[in-house]
Amino acid sequence: MSRPATGVHLTGWGGYAPSLVLTNADLERMVETNDEWIVTRTGIRERHIARPDETTASMAAVAGLRAIATAGLQPDDIDLIIVGTLTPDYPMPSTAALVKEAIGNRRAAAMDLAAACSGFVYGYATAHAYVASGMYRHVLVIGAETLSRVTDWTDRGTAILFGDAAGAAVLSASDEPGGTLGIELTTEPSGAYYIWLPGGGAARPAGAATVDGREHFIHMKGTETFKMAVRTLGSTATAAVRAAGLTLDEVDLVIPHQANYRIIEGLSKSLGFPMERVFVNVDCYGNTSAASVPLALAEAVAAGRVMRGDRLLFVAFGAGLTSGAIALQWTEDPANAARAAAIGPADVTIAPGYLGPTNPFPTALEWIRERDEAPAKG
Ligand code: COA
Repeated sequence: MSRPATGVHLTGWGGYAPSLVLTNADLERMVETNDEWIVTRTGIRERHIARPDETTASMAAVAGLRAIATAGLQPDDIDLIIVGTLTPDYPMPSTAALVKEAIGNRRAAAMDLAAACSGFVYGYATAHAYVASGMYRHVLVIGAETLSRVTDWTDRGTAILFGDAAGAAVLSASDEPGGTLGIELTTEPSGAYYIWLPGGGAARPAGAATVDGREHFIHMKGTETFKMAVRTLGSTATAAVRAAGLTLDEVDLVIPHQANYRIIEGLSKSLGFPMERVFVNVDCYGNTSAASVPLALAEAVAAGRVMRGDRLLFVAFGAGLTSGAIALQWTEDPANAARAAAIGPADVTIAPGYLGPTNPFPTALEWIRERDEAPAKG
């Protein structure tokens, strides 16, 4: 059923990060690196790692349930579920289909979206279009990643960067003022192989050669990615603000993709936008790809950094190279987050497939898990 075109508001938000933590000191014991190098070059101090019973779908479902509760909705109120991810549980079915069952929704359409670290921002833009057209009333957009399972734990150039998490938002139709103001999305294929996961697709199907060649892990040209990221983030952010009919001075808080503190600082400098009005939590989570912006949003709201009427700017970049930015005016009561306080991993179950159980946890990190799970001495 279609309704007249309408305004689109962000009405629900939520994040989830697994409880297992991998610190820079832990990495020092795994690869030739040190805390000072990692902090100076990236700003990252620790990242979270999914436990063996956690997957992208399970983390996405927790964040999704939190966002639905924050919005004051029931799971069945959701018309469409979009999961942005580069680490789906399986190539098919979609992770979104598994999430739909896990959150107890019986009526939504569900699909995944492949835009790497820009996945949430692209998902937001997609959800916006469905709601603005009148096709759907409430869309759940999730960014979720289990990057620990596609990270080469012997490669110091990438192992220090990534972490696991999920974040979610509900976009809803509303005729109130505010909500989404401006959107910009770009894709620059000249950087397509800067960040790349070569093995397992139709061009390089999984086999002994792709395993031996470590092709099922993330490969990255760090310096090239860095330069392109700063440039693209700035132009995309500026375009979204202009599309919103605003100037940068009128933006209260920028929530950027949390890839690297120096990239975020470079963005702030290139825009002439003060770091005091940029939200940063890369120190605690590393780069969680599609999860990073919605997880940062949930933390920014919890930290009292977002008030009713504030103008926010989300901006992300990722493999593709994709980039996207959303300018919006916040219209919700931050205290609604309390509605999600009791929701946790015990509230979701991912239906198992018909193959036998397997342990997906990275062998190189088993020692951290054993340490974490060892009974406290005393
Ligand atoms: N610990 C210690 N030394 C390291 C290291 C580590 N973890 N990783 C690399 N090095 C070394 C390199 O081998 C190199 O040594 P050399 O000069 O003897 O050859 C030196 O440090 C400098 O390496 P370089 O790659 O030039 O460093 P950099 O300043 O570019 O920082 C990154 C590397 C990866 C932190 C940086 O390029 C980056 O963040 N890029 C963007 C990555 C990103 O955001 N990807 C995701 C996008 S969504």
